Amino acid sequence: MIRRATAVAHPNIALAKYWGKAEGEGNVPAVPSLSVTLSLPDARLATTTTVTFGDSFTEDTLVLNGTTAEGRPLERVVALLDRVRAEAKTKTRAHVTSSNDFPTASGLASSASGFAALALASTRALGLDWPAERVADCARRSSASAARSIFGGFVELDAMFCRAVAPPSTLDLRVLVAVTTEAQKATSSTDGMILTQKTSPYYKAWLEDAPRNFRAMRAALLEDDFVRVGELAERSALAMHACAMAAGVVYVGGGTLAALAEVRAMRAAGMAAYATMDAGPHLKCLVRAADAEVATARLAAVPGVLRVLVASPAEGATVRAEREETP
Ligand code: DP6
Repeated sequence: MIRRATAVAHPNIALAKYWGKAEGEGNVPAVPSLSVTLSLPDARLATTTTVTFGDSFTEDTLVLNGTTAEGRPLERVVALLDRVRAEAKTKTRAHVTSSNDFPTASGLASSASGFAALALASTRALGLDWPAERVADCARRSSASAARSIFGGFVELDAMFCRAVAPPSTLDLRVLVAVTTEAQKATSSTDGMILTQKTSPYYKAWLEDAPRNFRAMRAALLEDDFVRVGELAERSALAMHACAMAAGVVYVGGGTLAALAEVRAMRAAGMAAYATMDAGPHLKCLVRAADAEVATARLAAVPGVLRVLVASPAEGATVRAEREETP
């Protein structure tokens, strides 16, 4: 028998950052985070993943963006499939195809949308009709930020619990992604976090500050206070990067800092523009929809910025197709 499902998910960026893992198993974040799920017009900026479980398959296989994948990417997919198989009480192997409609160097991590789409497609293919919170928990164990891509709009992840906080229409927000390099990042977020936890003199301060920042962010969002959300987002990103840098983990480059200076110049000139950066060299600028055009042109003119994508708050992950065939 063949059981198949296809799911689509979008990436997200954290406005209040997760950085560091709680002790013990299960990839539990050490601090709560709050993100916004993002897409481009026509719902582009998506990962589409099809999982086919077949009784005749002898091993799990993965085709990523048209190329057969092995090594670490395949291992991470197999680990998620193993958890789902244990819940469904089956040993059936699967064939997974996953493709992003955005390049790896798009400035937005594909692991969040990738593991969100994989968790949703694999559970549905095996007939597990779980609530979104449980699918998110499954995705979180592979990559914590992936839990947040299960939901649309503004999403919180507090230790193991993930849920939507506010719909995509909240805030009238645009996220301008200033892409600064085509290269892959040198240090994965998992490795960067572990090094930070082990060696940053500021990690303890981060653990104290991040939950406060998260609570203030949540309140500002629910009050629809764009300026406060922007201020807190920039603060969270700078605190995270400062903490990581003190451990020798440097994600920003010359283009990132030049773009950050431009965001601050726009703000000094009166625009509500704020910066955030994840574990990579690209800069994301938060502006109101009405300011997006001017801010995009200004960021695109910054030396070191290759291009700018204009993203908007998006819907959560969805199932596109489900099929069961008996050959
Ligand atoms: C800086 O979710 O990629 O983007 O759980 O180890 O896979 P793992 O880490 P990941 O880390 C994301 C870090 C961040 C901040 C954030 O998204 O909250």
